[in-house]
Amino acid sequence: MIFAPDCLADRRILVAGASSGLGRQVAIQMAECGAEVVLAGRNEARLAETLSAMAGTNHRIVLADLSSVDAADDLVKTTVAAVGPLHGVFYSAGESALAPVRTTKAQHLEQVFGAGLFGAFGVARAASRKGALCDGGSLVFMSSVSATRGRRGMAAYSAAKAGIGGLIRALAIELAPRSIRANAIAAGAVVTAMHDAFAGTVSEEMVGNYRDLHLLGFGRPEDIGHCAVFLMSDASRWITGQSLAVDGGYTAK
Ligand SMILES: NC(=O)c1ccc[n+]([C@@H]2O[C@H](COP(=O)([O-])OP(=O)(O)OC[C@H]3O[C@@H](n4cnc5c(N)ncnc54)[C@H](OP(=O)(O)O)[C@@H]3O)[C@@H](O)[C@H]2O)c1
Repeated sequence: MIFAPDCLADRRILVAGASSGLGRQVAIQMAECGAEVVLAGRNEARLAETLSAMAGTNHRIVLADLSSVDAADDLVKTTVAAVGPLHGVFYSAGESALAPVRTTKAQHLEQVFGAGLFGAFGVARAASRKGALCDGGSLVFMSSVSATRGRRGMAAYSAAKAGIGGLIRALAIELAPRSIRANAIAAGAVVTAMHDAFAGTVSEEMVGNYRDLHLLGFGRPEDIGHCAVFLMSDASRWITGQSLAVDGGYTAK
């Protein structure tokens, strides 16, 4: 344990996209730090797997498809009605799909923008309403190095993640009077199911070249978990409106 085991004690935190990858790992680490966690996603069996790996017994699962603004807004509303005002939200739901701009169809954009941007916006909208988030709360959204760096085939994903950057900056200004913070984690490549899906579509050599762009190699889910716990805790009380690079040095070049 790097953090004090009570650094998130008595905090109710919603983790959206908790059935896999980074959301799962963050939920596990937040529970280790004493938080009461609401796990949201579409796949009940995989959410239950996350739950079974968590410390403590006061967590719960909520099923939600977050591909629209209204559905994500409803998730926050029903969660708050069930457990009371939240102290934080970690938003990790999203999909990536490779396609060059030339062949990108509306359906592809809807897939990537759905949970990746519209759902994030819906959570932000609901969390902004009085009574949804406690004063002093923290909103953390998963972004990517793709928000600020171009790569072939990543236009839709990059646009969605750049949208997260815009969202958190405006949100930070709107919520500052209540000391509610809004930040993003701009991650480099972390080995998760999403990463494996990408790696499965390209050659080993390309995966190796991509790894070499990260000065410290590919990341592990707990590298993001540590940053998420920090951003959720009082240790980051003076940080808002920022996309923190957690990318093994990818953007240093
Ligand atoms: N892994 C990386 O290298 C990396 C790097 C930079 C940024 N990120 C970002 O980090 C976030 C998490 O990535 P990951 O690697 O953990 O991916 P992952 O393992 O594929 O997990 C994605 C999560 O999003 C949920 N999700 C997707 N669409 C959803 C929808 N419509 N409604 C509700 N939940 C939905 C999935 O839940 P269900 O399918 O169970 O519903 C799953 O829990 C994403 O936003 C991704 O863009 C990842």
